Amino acid sequence: MTLDTRVRLGTLELPNPVVAASGTFGHGDELGALCDPARLGAVTAKSQAPFAWAGNPPPRLQPVGAGLVNSVGLQGRGMDHWVTTELPALRALGARVIASVWGHTVDDFAAGAARLGPVTDQLVALEVNVSCPNLSHHGRPFAHDAAETAAVVQAVADVDLDVPLLVKLSPDVADLPGIAGRALEAGADALTLVNTARALVIDADLRRPVLGAGSGGLSGPALKPIALRAVHDVARAHPGVPIVGTGGVLSGLDAVEMLLAGASAVGVGTATFLEPRATLRILDELTQWCDRHGVTRVAELSGALRAPDREENP
Ligand code: FUM
Repeated sequence: MTLDTRVRLGTLELPNPVVAASGTFGHGDELGALCDPARLGAVTAKSQAPFAWAGNPPPRLQPVGAGLVNSVGLQGRGMDHWVTTELPALRALGARVIASVWGHTVDDFAAGAARLGPVTDQLVALEVNVSCPNLSHHGRPFAHDAAETAAVVQAVADVDLDVPLLVKLSPDVADLPGIAGRALEAGADALTLVNTARALVIDADLRRPVLGAGSGGLSGPALKPIALRAVHDVARAHPGVPIVGTGGVLSGLDAVEMLLAGASAVGVGTATFLEPRATLRILDELTQWCDRHGVTRVAELSGALRAPDREENP
């Protein structure tokens, strides 16, 4: 029995649902020798602003019990450098590339997106990263506020690039379906759910935060149940919305869970830090799970979660 691994994110068809999450697969072709990006559904590049940005002071990474807390702070050489240097390198490996843009202001997002105008034929989508928890200038991520999220998405949509727009949202909000709805109204075609959750790691001996920036963002296994819940709630509130479910996916089984919750594709992030080839292993495990369970189309798993059996579990 041949498994059909194709999935759709709105108008975008991917050959399989495994997508490298932004910031975890290098800026360009760094991981190419270890993990063939052409075999992945897509690769999301590290978010770039229309300017170079040094990121946060070290230390920037701290493993915790069930995950990793990072405070990288969106270090990057800027969108122009990415377009001329990193994108061609990644494309040369056959990757389907999702660009990612961030900014300090709404205008920054629009300016970063505009730099992609000449290369949209080399992209399969653009992700708008409004949810990085590691930028202190603004007080909070744009994604913590529905109106601010909508303003950024509208500004990027107005640039009128001919690629689908994904918007990456934060789990640290009271009403994620509401914010997702505003992003969709403003022009988002799909959602990436979720970014890291704000977190703090403390060195008790020093009585100081461990990370140079103070707080950071939690990813890895501890984030998975939160991400599943976020995907589930948004998928129920907005039936049919394409979602890249991201957060703590370390195995093919985790990917299956993310699809059942309502995702159409699955983002893999922290797993790649632990094991550079994790994305391909997860794809292989997902395929094997489908074979074992008589699933012939990966897409049929999306949103196929059953209701709890209340008679057995009163
Ligand atoms: O700090 C960082 O570079 C992380 C970015 C993000 O979580 O979006």
